[in-house]
Amino acid sequence: MRKFLVTLLTFACLGFVKASETGFLMPVPQSVSWGQGFLQIDSSFAIVVEGVDSGRSSHAAARILARLSKETGIRFSPPPAKPNAGVLRIAVRNPAPLTPVLGIDESYSIAVNGQGAMLTAGNFFGVVHGLETFLQLLRLDSSGFNIPAVTIKDEPRFPWRGLLVDVCRHWIPMDVLKRTIDGMAAVKLNVLHWHLSEDQGFRIESKRFPRLHSFGSDGLYYSQDQAREVVAYAAERGIRVIPEFDMPGHTTSWFVGYPELASSPGPYSIQRTWGVFDPAMDPTREEVYEFLDGFIEEMTQIFPDPFFHIGGDEVNGKQWDSSAAVAKFKHNNSLKDNHDIQVYFNKRVSGILKRHKRRMVGWDEILHPELPNNIVVQSWRGHKALAATVQQGSEGILSWGYYLDHMRPASYHYGIDPLAGDGLELAVDQRSQVLGGEACMWAEFVTEENIDSRIWPRTAAIAERLWSPSDVADVEDMYRRLAHVSKRLAWLGLTHIASYNKMLERLTGYREINTLKTLSDVLEPVKFYERPHTRKYTQQTPLNRLVDATRPESNAAREFAELVESYLMNPTLEGRAKALRLRLIQWRENDKKLQPILSTSPLLAEVIPLSRKLTRVSQIGLDALNAMEEGSPLGDRRKGLAKALSEEQTPAAELLLMIIPPIQTLLNAAP
Ligand code: ACM
Repeated sequence: MRKFLVTLLTFACLGFVKASETGFLMPVPQSVSWGQGFLQIDSSFAIVVEGVDSGRSSHAAARILARLSKETGIRFSPPPAKPNAGVLRIAVRNPAPLTPVLGIDESYSIAVNGQGAMLTAGNFFGVVHGLETFLQLLRLDSSGFNIPAVTIKDEPRFPWRGLLVDVCRHWIPMDVLKRTIDGMAAVKLNVLHWHLSEDQGFRIESKRFPRLHSFGSDGLYYSQDQAREVVAYAAERGIRVIPEFDMPGHTTSWFVGYPELASSPGPYSIQRTWGVFDPAMDPTREEVYEFLDGFIEEMTQIFPDPFFHIGGDEVNGKQWDSSAAVAKFKHNNSLKDNHDIQVYFNKRVSGILKRHKRRMVGWDEILHPELPNNIVVQSWRGHKALAATVQQGSEGILSWGYYLDHMRPASYHYGIDPLAGDGLELAVDQRSQVLGGEACMWAEFVTEENIDSRIWPRTAAIAERLWSPSDVADVEDMYRRLAHVSKRLAWLGLTHIASYNKMLERLTGYREINTLKTLSDVLEPVKFYERPHTRKYTQQTPLNRLVDATRPESNAAREFAELVESYLMNPTLEGRAKALRLRLIQWRENDKKLQPILSTSPLLAEVIPLSRKLTRVSQIGLDALNAMEEGSPLGDRRKGLAKALSEEQTPAAELLLMIIPPIQTLLNAAP
């Protein structure tokens, strides 16, 4: 009995300690229970698929095996598995539809011990998630490559976990979309929201209305075959594809070929700048609804998902205000303002969608009691807007707080929960009306070259927020795992690391990039919508400057801030002051080596002041550190240093120096 108790206690303790460890899993599963031992991964390892949908699951397994082979350098034997081989058995209970649908079972469980592994799933889409988890378990230690013994039971917290990709402001080619889908699957996102039309571009072929793409896209559009290919590619990775055709505003590119759809006669040309523009569809003409009916019907042949996004945001109403036809229509239909007009328009479009068996999705602005409550509202304005949607009996998803183009750190996005926020108080039975959320990659300052570095790795943190239990919220642990996932995503083909280096290399020409990188590593682009205020941008402006290469979140600055915190917690602890000093001296001295490179490159001329800024700021850090270490008060100098540091916060070349806040902390702490 006693022995039993001890065993039980030991087991329980081990279980407790280890279960709280998240390994390198991201998103963290609903339940993880680590065991003893491991499954060796060597050339005898094989994956065996049983049960229904085995063809599809076999293909997914083959892709995972290929990645496993790349990561380990092991050549795995083709099936059948050798006797006594370590095998991952996959058992699927139910057939899955060709494309995933909202709310479909995505659960899976994994059990690994020294002899083998078992992946069980309700259907193929659970298999896809389970295989990604299995790969994340791979580790290399003194026993070689292996998978630790573990039992995992997993399913998502929210059924709608999306990423919006704007392919209109800048063109995003097929290969980039496909690798984006690969990345989404790796972190268990399940909705690609494909923003296909805008003032700046109409990006899909219409056979029925060919002037949409031929006049509205500069030749940069997806053929219908390509769009179908994306839908199929996504489905094999458990991802729904929802097209967005923003209307009645954000529609200039439609009007280039079909000016009769607009509320003013035109002519129109593709919009080349960023912002909210006047052109809007003419709500008064039956021909507009007939056109939309035909167009939507055509698109439903490509996009099987029951949801269809009609945008609906940011209609400024100026064209409506200046149209005599709209004024008359307003009067005849007792519509009191432009919002009423948009509601009328939306009701008509909603009828069209219903005929084509689609549910309407739109941004906050579409919410109105007269629309059927089976619409889904995507909130870009915040939790209050989301609450309004729920109160009205509709379902909603959150995108406010998940705007990747705002260049905020992963920790910020990680802290935003669809079910917790200002103004959102939901009864228990209303909570299921919040379906989840979507990260948004708006592309004003994004090209095929830097889009990966804007999406990844931060989106993995959002993916975890939408998949994992809400109490998985340890920011430090998130960053630890994010660093790991970031590398995995790069191995998968995402270019967020490679393109950074490539862009820095191009900026320096034939010079070495390390000194530029030392500077660039502690910079971040300005936040929110500051860029268009600093200079005039158009669609043709090359996005090839340092601000376009620099990553949205500086890991070096974050790690420096952590070092400052830990130093201040215990200044006498061996090594911390020294580590701080080394970093600060390296930064201070960087300018000497960098200026010769900067001064010979027209592209880098704007960086000259930034490099000097790094020197000055680092010197202030060293002054503060010296005061701390020597216990010699700054005295009269403090005020001047604080003022100088505060002035350094002004951006240069649309870039912010991110070590300033931790140096401020250091200065405040100095005697
Ligand atoms: C939006 O950001 N206007 C949806």
